[in-house]
Amino acid sequence: MKTISIINLKGGVAKTLTTISMAHILSERHGKRVLVVDNDKQGNTSKTFGVHSYERGSVAELMLDRNADLADTICHTRYQRIDVIPANMKLLTANMQVMMDSSRPQQTRLRAALRKVQDQYDYCLIDNAPDINISTINALVASNEAIIPVKIDRYAFDGLQELKDQIAITREELNPALRLAGCLITCFQHVEGERQGEEWLRANMDCPVYKTHIRYSGKVVESSFEATPILEYSRRSGAAHDYCDFVAEYLDDERGC
Ligand SMILES: Nc1ncnc2c1ncn2[C@@H]1O[C@H](COP(=O)(O)OP(=O)(O)O)[C@@H](O)[C@H]1O
Ligand SMILES: [Mg+2]
Repeated sequence: MKTISIINLKGGVAKTLTTISMAHILSERHGKRVLVVDNDKQGNTSKTFGVHSYERGSVAELMLDRNADLADTICHTRYQRIDVIPANMKLLTANMQVMMDSSRPQQTRLRAALRKVQDQYDYCLIDNAPDINISTINALVASNEAIIPVKIDRYAFDGLQELKDQIAITREELNPALRLAGCLITCFQHVEGERQGEEWLRANMDCPVYKTHIRYSGKVVESSFEATPILEYSRRSGAAHDYCDFVAEYLDDERGC
């Protein structure tokens, strides 16, 4: 199982959309078995896959209890090859409790839990909250790669250096296998300012940027109200098309490594 953190310290840059779209395309188009970890207390990924709940286990229990029942936590979805470890607001207090519990390592808990299922999936995608906290550090420790969705605006670089520093520290101290796979430009609008912004971003980014960018598409907003992945909701939308291209580029890069 290859584990990928979708991460950016900023909100609203399409981390959740990228996680859902990538999981859906890897499974439906490429036949991969995918485990999605919702690592954001907002639980938007869990809601889209129809598994948001307070009745059963979530990522919070995995962080708190080394004997947490994974079978109770991993939810099957209507997609044969996509399972989800959901999140809910319990993650807020779980984060504080983990910080106060020094009886066992705090940063390696998600990795320990995911190792138990690593033979059952080809990919694990972790959708992160816009933060550096014990949950996101656990995600980076559990990951082979980080993908950073970036939205072009004046503040696109905010927090990027801090995130790259965190990735470097995690690699050095806890997870030598972690690499920054690349930045993915999202929500792209074909107006002159954005084209210039994209060029500038690519020139100044100081880390790999995927060739594919994801176009802004009104269908994405509609699809979120229907809790349906964009490729299923509107196969012909620009965003669905671009996410398919992105996953193909990602898989090709992977083969090239
Ligand atoms: N390509 C796109 N086209 C149109 N709207 C988008 C696109 N990507 C993201 N959005 C919208 O932007 C908002 C933030 O996306 P989301 O994936 O929730 O970001 P994050 O998880 O980084 O906070 C959502 O309302 C989403 O529907
Ligand atoms: Mg999100």
